[in-house]
Amino acid sequence: MKKKMQKAVITGAAGFIGFHLAQELLKRGWNVIGVDILTDYYDPRIKQKRLALLKKYPTFRFYKINIAKYAALEKVLKTEKPDEIIHLAAQAGVRYSLSNPWAYIESNMLGTLNVFEAAKRLKFPRVVYASSSSVYGLNKKSPMSEGDRADTQISVYAATKKANEALAHSYNHLYSTEMIGLRFFTVYGVWGRPDLALFKFVKNILAGKSIDVYNHGKMKRSFTHVSDIVAGVVALLEQKPQGRNEIYNLGGAEAMPLLDFIKLIEREVGKKAKQHLMPMQAGDVRETVADWSKAHRDLGFVPKVSMHQGIVEFVQWFRANEKFLCTLQEPKQ
Ligand SMILES: NC(=O)c1ccc[n+]([C@@H]2O[C@H](COP(=O)([O-])OP(=O)(O)OC[C@H]3O[C@@H](n4cnc5c(N)ncnc54)[C@H](O)[C@@H]3O)[C@@H](O)[C@H]2O)c1
Repeated sequence: MKKKMQKAVITGAAGFIGFHLAQELLKRGWNVIGVDILTDYYDPRIKQKRLALLKKYPTFRFYKINIAKYAALEKVLKTEKPDEIIHLAAQAGVRYSLSNPWAYIESNMLGTLNVFEAAKRLKFPRVVYASSSSVYGLNKKSPMSEGDRADTQISVYAATKKANEALAHSYNHLYSTEMIGLRFFTVYGVWGRPDLALFKFVKNILAGKSIDVYNHGKMKRSFTHVSDIVAGVVALLEQKPQGRNEIYNLGGAEAMPLLDFIKLIEREVGKKAKQHLMPMQAGDVRETVADWSKAHRDLGFVPKVSMHQGIVEFVQWFRANEKFLCTLQEPKQ
């Protein structure tokens, strides 16, 4: 008997991670329904490019809607009746949350409430949603585990992500919708966000411009290749919903000091970076290192892509698309 084609709604499908997840599910024979409003926090032209790649698949459909508008979201979900909802749409970025906190409340709080409420009303069995390593805030323990208390967020962005987890708990408790929150750790890869370090560093080093190095480089991150994140989500989707409320760290194979990360980029680009040493950015945390043993135990998650591989691939992609990428407007701050 032919297996029924699975259908997923992905919010934030024109975004960096949403695009990669959509592409992988399409390759695996899923119907994918993308939802995104194409915000202009960073230049939406890169979102259009991602969408153009997804539209090559006949099993992809796209709705340009704002998830903070409940009726519009419910209409899409009622029409499409997906098997899975993967909620990645959000106002991302730590620094911008200091200057425009309202964008975070609208997309991350109201938008997420709408996704959860629609799932409840339409009786969907599960919502998978993006959280963030930033919820660990001022925690000192490293690596960071899901069982650690996380009560000290230091940006509006991080606070909205933690609030999403609390809301997920309530919805799971009240209505038994399975709620899976994924705390992503510094995700990178091709078609990545222009506001993130790797993009900015490669762009500026290639152009001979200086790069801003925060906290004088005394930072450490579990950089996570986007294909490892996607593999984690796919592993989860292969499990039937069981009414769980869980949080998983999805983090990279190697935790790397920022200065080593810069050295790897310099080697690949073939040029030395002009480093502009800066103090710590308000809202940012010094170290986010993932303990992903829970995701390993429950989902078989193992990050596979080394930083070296990931950076080689990124620099090649950047060079191949340099003309376009260098015309993108600077992200909002
Ligand atoms: N990239 C990372 O390193 C990282 C780390 C931790 C958590 N996350 C989380 O993962 C998710 C995906 O992140 P990303 O890096 O792909 O970000 P992204 O900004 O590239 O993608 C998010 C998408 O959501 C869309 N969006 C925002 N508000 C919306 C709204 N109200 N209605 C409809 N669409 C809306 C944006 O237009 C964007 O395309 C986000 O929830 C983010 O907070 C990302």
